[in-house]
Amino acid sequence: MSNLKTVGQSVLRQDSWDKVTGKALFANDFSMKGELHIKLVFAGRPHARIISIDTTKALEQPGVVAIFTGKDVPHNLYGLIKADQPVLCEDKVRFTGDQVCAVVAETIAQAEKAAKLVEIDYQDLPVITDPQSATKPGAELVHENKPNNIAHKVQLRRGDVQSAFAEAEIIIEREYHTPMQEHAYLEPEAGVGYIDEEGRVTVRTAGQSTHDDQRQIAQALGLPLDQIRVIYGAIGGAFGGREDISVQIVLALAAWKLQRPVKLAWSREESISGHGKRHAITLRHKWGARKDGTLIAAQVEAISDAGAYLSTSGDVIDNFRFSAIGPYQIPNVKVDAAAIFTNNVPGGAFRGFGSPQTAFAAELQIEHLAEELGIDPTALRLKNCLVEHALLPTQSEIPGVVSLPLLLETLAEKVDNHQADDLEAAGKTRSSSKHKKRGTGIAIGLKNSGFSFGFPEGSDAKVILHGDAEIERAELYTAAADVGQGVHSALAQIAAEVLGIPISKIELVTSDTAVIGDSGPASASRLTIFAGYAVQQAAEQALENFKAENRPAVGGGRWDAPPTEKPDPETGACFNSLSYAYGAQAVEVEVDTETGEIKILKITAVHDPGKAINPQQVIGQIQGSLVQAQGWALTENFIIEEGYVKSDKLSTYLIPTVMDVAIETESILVERPDTFGPFGVRGIGEIAFVCFAPAIISAVHDATGVWFDHLPLLPEQVAAALHAGSKQ
Ligand code: MOS
Repeated sequence: MSNLKTVGQSVLRQDSWDKVTGKALFANDFSMKGELHIKLVFAGRPHARIISIDTTKALEQPGVVAIFTGKDVPHNLYGLIKADQPVLCEDKVRFTGDQVCAVVAETIAQAEKAAKLVEIDYQDLPVITDPQSATKPGAELVHENKPNNIAHKVQLRRGDVQSAFAEAEIIIEREYHTPMQEHAYLEPEAGVGYIDEEGRVTVRTAGQSTHDDQRQIAQALGLPLDQIRVIYGAIGGAFGGREDISVQIVLALAAWKLQRPVKLAWSREESISGHGKRHAITLRHKWGARKDGTLIAAQVEAISDAGAYLSTSGDVIDNFRFSAIGPYQIPNVKVDAAAIFTNNVPGGAFRGFGSPQTAFAAELQIEHLAEELGIDPTALRLKNCLVEHALLPTQSEIPGVVSLPLLLETLAEKVDNHQADDLEAAGKTRSSSKHKKRGTGIAIGLKNSGFSFGFPEGSDAKVILHGDAEIERAELYTAAADVGQGVHSALAQIAAEVLGIPISKIELVTSDTAVIGDSGPASASRLTIFAGYAVQQAAEQALENFKAENRPAVGGGRWDAPPTEKPDPETGACFNSLSYAYGAQAVEVEVDTETGEIKILKITAVHDPGKAINPQQVIGQIQGSLVQAQGWALTENFIIEEGYVKSDKLSTYLIPTVMDVAIETESILVERPDTFGPFGVRGIGEIAFVCFAPAIISAVHDATGVWFDHLPLLPEQVAAALHAGSKQ
């Protein structure tokens, strides 16, 4: 491995010049000659029957070309996993972000003006806002065919928790709540639809999977797949929020019906109210252990807010089930979890896909157990955490190289040294004033890579080599969406490495369904592994053909991953995932006990990328995850009242800025090549998010002696809790 030339180098990102010079065209930067403009009419109310839609007045407005309603959509239901969401609602709206009409006009001002004149007569229905009461008999149904508003329900049974609890010498029973989170990507949803030179209905937009978008557009319009083309340009972030359709089908519909280019861009408010959020989940945990700290039983009950449509709620709760007890070995486990329909904005994919919520509760359970038993939390984790050949709660052996104990030991050593330095500098670096208190917390985590749970997994890629005696240039075709994570560069590095050529000779052809096969989405920390394998295979085949004197030398096609298994419906037993990433993090905070403000002083994040294809990009993923997790933990307060999103602006939904982030962040890469993954690579896109929030809670407790069981830790709540605590 030591003779690698390109893999392992922090090569310059292929898109960096275009991005810093402004040459890169994001979705809303791209325009077509003669394009029309679309303004959507959103429901603006959480639950109502549509009595009538009258477009007469709006259609008479100057510049208005057409107004589309649900009647114009051939198959008016779509969905990434299951089609349950109308493209344009005809009989009922289920959340404020539901779309009812698309007004098309010569200018955006004309479209906006006409949109206000569409007359929709609604009959409001009772609004379901709370997943707990949504399941009660008699509750209004969000979907008539979904009794008790249950979107998806899972269970896991391993061993016998009942007798294990009877045997336990200590039981920790607590409830936790994790909130919704908005992705707040830089670029709101936007795109252009047009008919291409071969007559295909084409959408140029930003997303996480060109081919999933293509499939859903084709289904809704009732057109063959090859009549739909999806192209991505530069993408301004995604984080899971672009897994679902936003503007794609409406753009395709209007371009197809009008045979003219059309443009649609959501405002920030429409974006925040319109796309899915991280699931709010309420978790009840009961853990039993022996006095020496050995975990023997865990029972987890969880209710997740699926919002108005299924989206990926079922898959998130599937993922939740396997990671419900965190990265620990517990022989007796019982999990019952359900995703419940409400009239809130749908819950959907967001970096971590259920794991941040499970880690939050599991890591705090460990902390409470450590405190009750008087055992050092690091030692308690080491005693119980997953090691090689350990059994997961799905009763399958965890595959690959399990570096979790090593990461935790590396972290513990770092934190000890740091605190020793701190003590030495005591007086200077310790608490800056009397009412500011410092504390440190740690947490560990795991995240599976790839779809898992029996979902077919794999990827397409193609490599074409040109040159005479030597390779002069190599075309690399991949549909992998570069959402900002840098996957195009990583894949180019893999190709260059296999081909033995400098990366400057790789020409990327990306994200266009007309010329590239399906790589699968930018999700589940999967692309560097699974698209990486496909690229490696394509490059190897092309090189063989090059050596056999074929010109141009072509290689590639589908690479299929070994199968995983569907969980047994009763026990959840299965071989769930092929690959895992691990992490161990420490965070040092300073709490202002008067104002409740929490300042992050230092983060130490220890992660194992297996093999860092591009170390700088890996660290970028870790730093980005940490900032995003900080927002979830401290400032991002997603407010939805009676189904209405109140925090629909970036001035009311506060993501961390450069002024808020940790004073110092140290990312430590401990590379232990995995047995799965090209070059031993692991997926690193999500894991750093997973560990952070519980570490913050522990740090605040270390500083103040007060435990919190929810997020975000808003200053006013922290101050109130501290003042209440000091009175006791
Ligand atoms: Mo991701 S949260 O798997 O799009």
